[in-house]
Amino acid sequence: MPSTDNVMDKLVSLAKRRGFVFQSSEIYGGLGSVWDYGPLGVELKNNIKERWWRSMVHAREDIEGLDAAILMHPKVWEASGHVAGFTDPLVDCKHCKNRFRADDPRIKGTPGQPDAQCPVCGSRGTLTEPRMFNLMFKTFMGPVEEAAAVVYLRPETAQGIYVNYLNVLQSSRQKIPFGIAQIGKAFRNEITPGNFTFRTREFEQMEMQFFVKPGTDQEWFEFWRHERMKWLVELGIRPEKLRFHQHTKEELAHYAKDAYDIQYEFPFGWQEFEGIHNRTDFDLSRHQEYSGKKLDYLDPATNERFVPYVVETSAGADRTALVTLVDAYGEEEVAGEKRVVMRLHPALAPLKAAVFPLVNKDGMPELARRVYDDLRRHYNVFYDDGGSIGRRYRRQDEAGTPFGITIDGQSTADATVTVRDRDTLQQVRINTDRVVSYLGERVKG
Ligand code: GAP
Repeated sequence: MPSTDNVMDKLVSLAKRRGFVFQSSEIYGGLGSVWDYGPLGVELKNNIKERWWRSMVHAREDIEGLDAAILMHPKVWEASGHVAGFTDPLVDCKHCKNRFRADDPRIKGTPGQPDAQCPVCGSRGTLTEPRMFNLMFKTFMGPVEEAAAVVYLRPETAQGIYVNYLNVLQSSRQKIPFGIAQIGKAFRNEITPGNFTFRTREFEQMEMQFFVKPGTDQEWFEFWRHERMKWLVELGIRPEKLRFHQHTKEELAHYAKDAYDIQYEFPFGWQEFEGIHNRTDFDLSRHQEYSGKKLDYLDPATNERFVPYVVETSAGADRTALVTLVDAYGEEEVAGEKRVVMRLHPALAPLKAAVFPLVNKDGMPELARRVYDDLRRHYNVFYDDGGSIGRRYRRQDEAGTPFGITIDGQSTADATVTVRDRDTLQQVRINTDRVVSYLGERVKG
């Protein structure tokens, strides 16, 4: 592994060069901490989301899917506690006009005091006292820009699940315990965003809320935190780079009774990219109170009525994608030459294979095209006939493509191709009619 200092710089540059991630609105100078996924990035993120959906929804009898709207009734956010409590303490520098989180480690001294030093312009005594700043984006619904028309872009997808909990319960005929899963965009006006796609202002969450009988919540909480860790290891992430962090009392969110982060050791330190939370009956009770609608559950077995407790698993699709990119990044020397290789799990790799005619003559391009056409009916694959074969392999190594299929002089004689493995660099020769099944055995999740 290369030195950790510049791995992020190298990754940002590779991500742009190869079409994983671009800065939003780049030709206008960019928009702060908003990113666009290019042709390879969108495939990677879709593969992650698809795998999550398969394991959380399709593979389980007791979880239903949902796609709630981003815009919700503004009272939702009063009930959830976000209007009052989803805030960060901020300080401004009166000299350079920059704004920071009050706990920004770069600030020297106490904001508001004469000794405090601005981390950007270096002035002393120019930082204001901390003020609370709400992280929700506000906009207006309808033609009138007035207080009564304020709506928010959701800061988490979970609330769309809570307000639909009875609709899903009744329409799906589930019984408690059961869960509702959703993938969707969330927005936070983060003050200290950064570290590439780690902390952004627009991002996607993959959340599941599991509704349980009070008293069984801690058991389900334990179950789900282990399930989620297992899923991440199966994604090919190195287990030694993963750990749990249990929230201290001070760290717990206003809704949580217990919470674990799943952290990854990024080049910039151990950081959370998924959380498992015991949210108790906080959200459903609050929505019951604010909406005036009963949200309790009648247990058909015992005739008991209760407001369910909720165990939440909350992952960021973008942070998970970033984890897979960081974890996959490698540099090594092969036959005296440096190669950069993205060792992405084959099921996540944006391209499953690339097809190369060794030279553009002697029937090789025609056969290569036939192999490529066969393959692309099943998988996302790439055809490349430009440059030396070594350079073509290197380009695919950087894209994380697990297999390189080369059509050479022998191929046209005996209908065989060579398949090069990205990680072992081993080559095997197989019949052209076996290529689709050969890949199928290796790239399915
Ligand atoms: N519903 C609970 C909830 O939203 P959270 O810990 O605030 O909990 C869950 O967020 C996950 O969403 C995080 O672990 C992270 O992966 C992702 N996330 C949160 N804020 C983010 C941001 N500003 N940029 C990218 N991902 C973010």
